[in-house]
Amino acid sequence: MTHAATIVFRDGKTAHIEVRPNELLMDAARRQGVQLPVDCREGVCATCRGVCESGKVELEYVDEEALTEAELAKGHILACQTRLKSDGTFYFDIDSTISSTSTKTYSATVSKVEKVSEAAALLELQLDDAAKALKFLPGQYARIQVPDTDQWRAYSFANASAQAGTLRFLIRLLPSGVMSDYLRERAKVGDKIQFEAPLGVFYLRKIERPLMMVAGGTGLSAFLAMLDSFVQKGGCSQPIHLSYGVNYEADLSELARLAEYKNQLPHFDYSIAVMHPSEQWQGQKGVVCDVFKPEFMKQPFDAYLCGPPGMIEATKTWLENAKVAEHQLFFEKFVSS
Ligand SMILES: Cc1cc2nc3c(=O)[nH]c(=O)nc-3n(C[C@H](O)[C@H](O)[C@H](O)COP(=O)(O)OP(=O)(O)OC[C@H]3O[C@@H](n4cnc5c(N)ncnc54)[C@H](O)[C@@H]3O)c2cc1C
Ligand code: FES
Repeated sequence: MTHAATIVFRDGKTAHIEVRPNELLMDAARRQGVQLPVDCREGVCATCRGVCESGKVELEYVDEEALTEAELAKGHILACQTRLKSDGTFYFDIDSTISSTSTKTYSATVSKVEKVSEAAALLELQLDDAAKALKFLPGQYARIQVPDTDQWRAYSFANASAQAGTLRFLIRLLPSGVMSDYLRERAKVGDKIQFEAPLGVFYLRKIERPLMMVAGGTGLSAFLAMLDSFVQKGGCSQPIHLSYGVNYEADLSELARLAEYKNQLPHFDYSIAVMHPSEQWQGQKGVVCDVFKPEFMKQPFDAYLCGPPGMIEATKTWLENAKVAEHQLFFEKFVSS
């Protein structure tokens, strides 16, 4: 039996779709032109999360990293794993404009590839057809095809826009991995690369209160794009604090860029935590939560978290247990893509 689903977006717009027997909510929406955010399609990344506000559903697989027991009890769902057992209403915390943005494939040429720390590389691409407009929101990501393979990997944009056709990505170099090996061993200026964009729902909502940014490792990438956009717009009226955590100090990347943003943006500051520092390290030792600013969290704020799943879960737990003011929380987990 077919069921009726109402999709409600953050901006109040709604879409009405029919869901066939045994069809996944995600597939039914796409079939009828409603693009819900999607990445892994396997119940792991939580990119497609929403809330079932009415109706009965069955969830196929939900990884513990995607939704907690408490979230499941509150009706949170993953659209890529949800089948309807009755008519239902589903809330997605994204603007309807995101759902109507169609993802396209672009071709580009590598214009720079540079190791920026022991564990990260900066990949710069030049769009081949700059006229083929690529619009994305700082915080969103692209799926890049690793040259000479059929493998695609997700990377957050590290600059604010595709102005002048240039795109930057900050990419972690794993000891062994399809993209990591390409960047370390074969990548060179002039290589042709394909990517799909824009993707994802990690982007700045209306800025009405202080912004707390929390970056783990190359999770810094998304915040570089956001800070870049503030510089382009001539500033941000709200205070911004970025906490940036890495395992070893040799993993720290783009510090000159952060120092530059601090000069350019009067309300911006950042703190760094290194988990396993050397004896020479003069800064803070510990995890990213150790460099949060308590005074910053005394008034309502918005928290944006980006990086490895472990860091995001630890920060969520920290915020749940700490005596901090009311806050909204948005996050992007860098799960294996
Ligand atoms: C929405 C999204 C955005 C992302 N943005 C970024 C970004 O901006 N910068 C960035 O560096 N990464 C980002 N990632 C992670 C990235 O997509 C890849 O998973 C990662 O770069 C590994 O790719 P690889 O081809 O080198 O390794 P793979 O060939 O995919 O994996 C090699 C081995 O490493 C393991 N592995 C894969 N990913 C990780 C990981 N993150 N941590 C530990 N082990 C891993 C695999 O299980 C496998 O055993 C993002 C992921 C998602 C889902
Ligand atoms: S796309 Fe549904 S959990 Fe990843």
